[in-house]
Amino acid sequence: MSEVVKLERHDNIAVVTVNSPPVNALSAAVRGGIFDCIKSAIDDAQVQGIVLTCAGRTFIAGADITEFGKPPKPPGLAEVLSLMESSPKPIVAAIHGTALGGGLEVALACHYRVATKDAKLGLPEVKLGLLPGAGGTQRLPRAVGPELAVKMIVGGDPIGADAALKAGLIDEIVEGPASGGEAFARKVVAEKRPLRKLRDDDSKLAAAKADRSIFTNAVAALTKKSRGLEAPFAAADAVGAAIDLPFDEGLKKEREGFLKLMNGEQSKAQRYAFFAGREAAKISGVPEGTKGRNVARVAILGAGTMGGGIAMSFANAGIPVTLIETGEEQLKRGMGIMQKNYEATAARGGIPADAPAKRMALINGVVGIENIGDADLVIEAVFETMAVKKEVFGKLDQYAKPGAVLASNTSYLNIDEIAQSTKRPQDVLGMHFFSPANVMKLCEIVRADKTAPDALVTAVSIARKIAKVPAVVGVCDGFVGNRMLAQRGKQSEKLLFEGALPQQVDAVVTKFGMPMGPFAMGDLAGLDIGWRSRKDRGIKSEIADALCEAGRFGQKTGKGYYKYEQGSRAALPDPEVEKLIDETLARLGRKKRVVSDDEILERMMYPMINEGAKILAEGIAARPSDIDVVWLYGYGWPIYRGGPMFWADTVGLKHIADRLAFYARETNDPSLEPAPLLKKLADEGKTFASLAAASKAA
Ligand code: 3HC
Ligand code: NAI
Repeated sequence: MSEVVKLERHDNIAVVTVNSPPVNALSAAVRGGIFDCIKSAIDDAQVQGIVLTCAGRTFIAGADITEFGKPPKPPGLAEVLSLMESSPKPIVAAIHGTALGGGLEVALACHYRVATKDAKLGLPEVKLGLLPGAGGTQRLPRAVGPELAVKMIVGGDPIGADAALKAGLIDEIVEGPASGGEAFARKVVAEKRPLRKLRDDDSKLAAAKADRSIFTNAVAALTKKSRGLEAPFAAADAVGAAIDLPFDEGLKKEREGFLKLMNGEQSKAQRYAFFAGREAAKISGVPEGTKGRNVARVAILGAGTMGGGIAMSFANAGIPVTLIETGEEQLKRGMGIMQKNYEATAARGGIPADAPAKRMALINGVVGIENIGDADLVIEAVFETMAVKKEVFGKLDQYAKPGAVLASNTSYLNIDEIAQSTKRPQDVLGMHFFSPANVMKLCEIVRADKTAPDALVTAVSIARKIAKVPAVVGVCDGFVGNRMLAQRGKQSEKLLFEGALPQQVDAVVTKFGMPMGPFAMGDLAGLDIGWRSRKDRGIKSEIADALCEAGRFGQKTGKGYYKYEQGSRAALPDPEVEKLIDETLARLGRKKRVVSDDEILERMMYPMINEGAKILAEGIAARPSDIDVVWLYGYGWPIYRGGPMFWADTVGLKHIADRLAFYARETNDPSLEPAPLLKKLADEGKTFASLAAASKAA
């Protein structure tokens, strides 16, 4: 018998158990093991029913993604599923944990399914740029109807056991998977229940066959936000085939779609992003076995834009928060915003109706840092001024319990300097969340000079616990994300001086797949912030200054680089801005030229990649993939382009280095000279992916 799949017989019931940690993915060994065990059980005259279950933390969580793109090894999953579905003896899938992708497809090829109450079932392939490739698009619509199937396949989110029972995806909720599965199989055998093969049951397709709008409406609702992505549309087509074609033809159509996506660039990038996210949680340079500190309660200083969002992220994960402000009025405002935010989400159906009250009950708003209590983690989100940060951290010495991890959410300030204002610099680090903090998944974990390894591990693991994607970075101005963004900001401003318009620049950036261009983003954040900071530092930025002098602070004043109609966030090009730019250029004696979209794209992206190369060389990020994680989860970099460093490799580093050198010359900008690391890799014909992990952040 196989190493990873075992067969036992309990009287007339055969129990097939997959045991391939960590997530029982369908590697060639698992596929082969299931095939052999099921075949033996079918051939064993004593066996009347079969249970397929898994050991460890979960039912099969999908195909083995590491095998994709490599030569296929037999047996194929389709062959295994065909053996199972055509078994003359009933097979019951007994599910716990997460039955995802190929895992759920295995279960769908069984005749019955049971699951534990906390199990999740889903077909998340679209999130990897794929569609279910082993019958999922054909069997799931037959199990639950096309509407829910579209939701699960095109949307990619799993459903819980209760919903699965209601929809007919499972037959029963059980206590333990193996025992519950076995008891259910005995019942099926004793009652001589028929072999239910989804392939032969079109009953739930009838309504959509008669009225196809049931299907097309469901697809339209889900693909609204899929701009640029191939997989959701291909997945929808495959579900459409379940409605329009006989089962075997539908399967064929699904297979073609799956293979096309798997061999395409988008899925490659999305699979890379999946592993990059997991890799980022592995901290290099920390002694093996370092355990994090226990975090049962969190204190957050400042209930402003960020403090409120961070508090919500913890409450969403069930972790109690003490939220501290300087005065009753600020506290009331902060608590009010969170309450409203939760209520709006509940009204949209995003969270259950009783969730706002439950989550707000976990957030205890108080005035005064002396009320910090026994928090195990303190996150400071007060004003972005070094003096204020130092004062707050100085006070933490007095009020925070010994051993508490002390984190700052600063966007730019030096964590080493902040740490010096306490007597416990080993507990100090950065936890840089992104706005809106309850939505954006990234948390840059900033490792300072003296940060203790166990403090770092604590921050990384708590970030994962609240469903964030952590990326460990070193101390520098703006850390990884904002430091790279600053390069893009510099170029976008320069482009206006050369003849491009804000709407032209933004259109190129959004066409590339970013959610917003730099000018629309500036309008959203507020142009007055930069203006004030420039004034403080005695710096000028003629066009941006002229906008602010004309009272154009962005969305909050209804005009900035764009104009906004009352109550609308839609950025509308404004002839007045064009006039203002023209006047400024005329005043400065600058001549306009036609700037091509290709040049805009190169000047938006390549300087960021150049900065990324410097960040790697300095060890601020340990791996190119960590930089990609920052951009994917903090700035909405299109997942189908993998992240800036991954994308750079696909463009070719030689080309990027050459173009940077060209722009450095043409625009008289030495900051665009290719960084030494980029130049070296380009000269050697190498990629960022070829770099070994080495870092100061490690
Ligand atoms: N293949 C290979 N490795 C996988 C994997 C998979 N499908 N799923 C998870 N892993 C690995 C992870 O890389 C990680 O490895 P590491 O410890 O070396 O970093 C380890 O398993 C544990 O994973 P997580 O850290 O993500 O563990 P969590 O407990 O947080 O999450 C999970 C578990 C919910 C199962 C999550 O890993 C997940 O969502 N996995 C992907 C599920 C998926 O997309 N399945 C569909 C695959 S495509 C498919 O099935 C095609 C089919 O239609 C033919
Ligand atoms: P904000 O101005 O909205 O909120 C700051 C809050 O801190 C105010 O409510 C203020 O009353 C309170 N506060 C000031 N001193 C305090 C003290 N000693 N104790 C308790 N509360 C105090 O500011 P915002 O935008 O939330 O920023 C907070 C921090 O987060 C800054 O360091 C900022 O750089 C950083 N940040 C901001 C992002 C953003 O997009 N707004 C993104 C990422 C980080």
